[in-house]
Amino acid sequence: MGVNDDLLASAKKVLDTNDKGNYTIPAHGLYPHQWLWDSCFIAIGQRHFDVERAKIEILSLLRGQWKNGMLPHIIFTPGKKAAMHEGHWQSWLSPLSPDDVSTSGITQPPMLAEAVVRIGETLPLTERRSWYGQVWPNLLAYHEWMYRERDPHGEGLALQIHPWETGMDNTPGWMELLGEHLLPWWIRLLARLHIDGIISWFRSDTRYVPAQERLSNIEALALYDTQLRLRRKAYDTDKILDHSLFAVEDLAFNCILIRANTHLRQIALSIRKDLPEDLYKRMELAEKTLEELWDPYTEQYYSRDFITHRLLKQPSVATLLPLYAGTISEERAKLLVKMLENEHIFGTAYPIPSAPRNSTWFNPICYWQGPSWVNINWLVIDGLKRYGFDEHAAALRDSTLEMISKSDCYEYFNPMTGNGLGTKNFSWTAALAIDLLAKEK
Ligand code: GLC
Repeated sequence: MGVNDDLLASAKKVLDTNDKGNYTIPAHGLYPHQWLWDSCFIAIGQRHFDVERAKIEILSLLRGQWKNGMLPHIIFTPGKKAAMHEGHWQSWLSPLSPDDVSTSGITQPPMLAEAVVRIGETLPLTERRSWYGQVWPNLLAYHEWMYRERDPHGEGLALQIHPWETGMDNTPGWMELLGEHLLPWWIRLLARLHIDGIISWFRSDTRYVPAQERLSNIEALALYDTQLRLRRKAYDTDKILDHSLFAVEDLAFNCILIRANTHLRQIALSIRKDLPEDLYKRMELAEKTLEELWDPYTEQYYSRDFITHRLLKQPSVATLLPLYAGTISEERAKLLVKMLENEHIFGTAYPIPSAPRNSTWFNPICYWQGPSWVNINWLVIDGLKRYGFDEHAAALRDSTLEMISKSDCYEYFNPMTGNGLGTKNFSWTAALAIDLLAKEK
């Protein structure tokens, strides 16, 4: 067996181990439930060996959809752990949460349309259309919710109310904003007295993964406190925005949304559906407004504070995701590719670091502040190809596969050494390895 056959076999084994029948958990121990964007990436891998199972993965996500169209970021697996996590979220406080499924109260990057289309690609035309028809009502309701509730001023960008919604939990821009003025007095006091160590007792993640590879205690507390604030408003976006200073138009999230919009239009065409006029206009506006996130001085894209419209100028790998959105000019795409090539920025031995090397935040082993993540690489590879940077795409695909072969299906990787970090046997790493290997043929 060749190296790639070995990798394929071990990646399939990871998906098998994490398979719960109708959905796949990200990893045992640390992540025992179904996560939204995880399942989308997982289905993109599954379609290569069992397209029916890939469809089921997606349909399982739809069972969690809220009455307003929101897709929650977690659907809980019933059991002992669920009771504790459900108690944290108490999403039953919202009349919009589903009656028979227990979920979190926020969303995650909208990868759904991408997964639907990738599954569709592997089906013959009539079956593809019937697949599209099957998921259409949910998909449309999700996009309509996004623009109705999360773009209240009609700007064309969706806002997020918690860093977990970006999927990049402790990404520098958000963390700086949280630290600036939004920490409650008791977290500030713990930090000032350097007694935040007591929090370690209550953290479950550091029971599975070395503490230095995760969020700091202060960051973890800040995320928890933000979650409590959302819970107090029963996850009602209007009420949350009335009282909160914390809402961000996240760059990565909006790039994924823009790409999802393109897929939505394509799906609509293929099954002869009309998109509601208002949604259509908002989707067009999104592509223009993305350019407002460009900073001409540092020549890169950033997330934006929803309230003040200030760009959050802490660079992260999200700056490369407009390539995936696919709507930026070739000139700007070239500037982004230059950053990817530069060894002092994103061109490490095992790219792409989640924070650039020349950032003060860069830490090669800490979660979303330095390590390379396979899902982000996958998005950038896809974007590079669509802009015609085939060689860059192939190089990134090869280094990603090499990193996984060398270290196994870890959650994230040290961008300097390729060593695995976080939890082992992580599903999206396995699924996307399968997808990248399929493209090599
Ligand atoms: C972590 C990641 C998030 C992912 C989740 C489950 O919270 O930051 O992106 O969805 O784990 O794998």
